[in-house]
Amino acid sequence: MIRHIIAAIATLLALWAMYFMYQLDVKAERFKQIQEVIRKSQQEVHLKPTVQPIQQAPATSAAEEAKKQEDETAKKLKSLRERAGSTMAFKVSPLYKQKCSSCHGVNGEGIIGPKLIGMSEEKVYQALEDFKSGKRKNYVMYGLLTKMSDEELKSLSQEIGTFAQKMEAASK
Ligand code: HEC
Repeated sequence: MIRHIIAAIATLLALWAMYFMYQLDVKAERFKQIQEVIRKSQQEVHLKPTVQPIQQAPATSAAEEAKKQEDETAKKLKSLRERAGSTMAFKVSPLYKQKCSSCHGVNGEGIIGPKLIGMSEEKVYQALEDFKSGKRKNYVMYGLLTKMSDEELKSLSQEIGTFAQKMEAASK
């Protein structure tokens, strides 16, 4: 009788052991699968940092480059403006100062727009007429001049025509 019980217990133990082993196997398999998933996700995670700097680096450096250029342009403009302001050699008409100096400089020395010093009255007037009529195409000058009268253009031409002389007189 006891033998039978022991045998039965042994069998149960064996069965339990088998079941336990089976469970371990299942767990091991799952563990493997999980490891695989982790490995893959790590690969992806590892991939990202190597991909991202390549994608981001040019983007940020391009943005920085653009920002730098912008800053430099702003600086240049500022220094030009300051120089233009500090080297105001002679007085100009309020009309010129208001309408033209921001681009051509307080004394026509040129900033965004070309230098006007040295242009004759006729040449300036011709240029202004050509811009206004559209014969000479420049949207900035065109837009500006369409709102100005012929008298204003004449007087400005006359004034700009004297810039060279005035500049020379001022630098003496
Ligand atoms: C917003 C900027 C700006 C303003 C303001 C401006 N100009 Fe200009 N101007 C320009 C630019 C840019 C050019 C060059 C256009 C081109 O050559 O096609 C130019 C060209 C000229 C030229 C021809 C120069 C040449 O070498 O042939 C004359 C003359 C001139 N401007 C006079 C004036 C007068 C006068 C005013 C004021 C009423 C004025 N500009 C206001 C930007 C400006």
